[in-house]
Amino acid sequence: MKIRSAELIGALSHALDITEGQPRGHCHRVCWMGMKLGQGINMPREELADLYYALLLKDLGCSSNAARICQLYLADDRKFKADFKLIDGSLSQALRFVLTHTGLESGMAERFRAIINIMRNGGQISRELIEARCHRGADIARQMGFSEAVAGAVQNLDEHWDGSGKPEGRLRREIPVASQIALMAQVADVFYMAGGREAATREIEARAGTWFDADLVQVFINLVEFDEFWEPLAAPDLASRIMALEPEEHIRLADEDYLDRVAKGFAMVVDSKSPFTAGHSTRVALYADMIAERLGLPAAQRRQLTRAALLHDIGKLGISNGILDKPAKLTEAEFATIKSHPTLSAEILRGIPALANLVPVAEGHHERLDGKGYPRGLKGSEINLDTRICTVADVFDALTADRPYRKAMAVGEALALMQKDVGAAFDARCFAALADAMRDMQQAAA
Ligand SMILES: [Fe+2]
Ligand SMILES: [Fe+2]
Repeated sequence: MKIRSAELIGALSHALDITEGQPRGHCHRVCWMGMKLGQGINMPREELADLYYALLLKDLGCSSNAARICQLYLADDRKFKADFKLIDGSLSQALRFVLTHTGLESGMAERFRAIINIMRNGGQISRELIEARCHRGADIARQMGFSEAVAGAVQNLDEHWDGSGKPEGRLRREIPVASQIALMAQVADVFYMAGGREAATREIEARAGTWFDADLVQVFINLVEFDEFWEPLAAPDLASRIMALEPEEHIRLADEDYLDRVAKGFAMVVDSKSPFTAGHSTRVALYADMIAERLGLPAAQRRQLTRAALLHDIGKLGISNGILDKPAKLTEAEFATIKSHPTLSAEILRGIPALANLVPVAEGHHERLDGKGYPRGLKGSEINLDTRICTVADVFDALTADRPYRKAMAVGEALALMQKDVGAAFDARCFAALADAMRDMQQAAA
């Protein structure tokens, strides 16, 4: 199967939008505006190709600071991030932002402590947050096989023309042009969605010489005169227009290896969201493959299963860390939100033809053979083998890794606990295969 990688990345960029708390289509609109800017400054075609991917992938590191935002600001990380993009970094705006966004649902004492911490360490904290995001994003871009130019553009997304940006405080031409364009398009879209064309234009103009190169701002001002610049942003065919913008001679076709790399890259995005699930998707993929090997499944099926296991929790990107990492008992409403993640995973994957075959595993990995699972309460034969494998691997990893509410369990203890649910929750063959594989591994290590 040959599909264009632009199609794949464009579709997956929706997963990045939900992590950032941005209205759906943010990365697409940023890509549209950014490419018009790139064409407006007569960027060489080679560089336009890198710009194209950088625009779609600018938020690859977005999940990596979500947990810390929640911890420091006691806030819903997704709403916080969306609103944070509306401030320009001046002290009064920043303070007002902190006071209105910190711990809206927490007690006064916790809120006060969080505010004091932010006032004392605000600069340092936001630099750390942005640093984590930039480096992680660039690493993931490299893992996915993108050029150093794309990785560099992602890494320098939050640098400002006058040196006031983060994390390096780079100045003027030290900042890659693709990063400058991506930031400008990001600000334009955030204000466009919040207040329309005029709000976006005003905001870009106001930041000329500070956040942005005044010459690049002039290019933007020239573009906004034309309806053709704005109209596609709200058009239903924006996704296909974005596809058509990929510079032709650089069109990349996604082969099987590429799909593997992209699945690994997005698993890193998912795993970066919470300290408690660091490495979870990757480990679930490993355990699932160990089970599949024992069951003698063919190589092609194992490959699909690995991708499914890597992406099974991609829907968690749309759930706030305030809930995902909560150390206390969840309320009923919070638990319902958690339970929506398999449906969200399935929704994301269903929109991507090359990955749509992973939907049953993504949607079904919390189902139980006895029908008491979620979200659909599927029973026995309604749950396919790949999903049963992923469920066993998923629970095993959940038990043997630290979680907000308890410490990691030893392998033997976890297997003994799971054994009690064989037949009710877990498939007996899949469980036996995992137990065998673990025993062999422990013997080999002894
Ligand atoms: Fe899950
Ligand atoms: Fe999981």
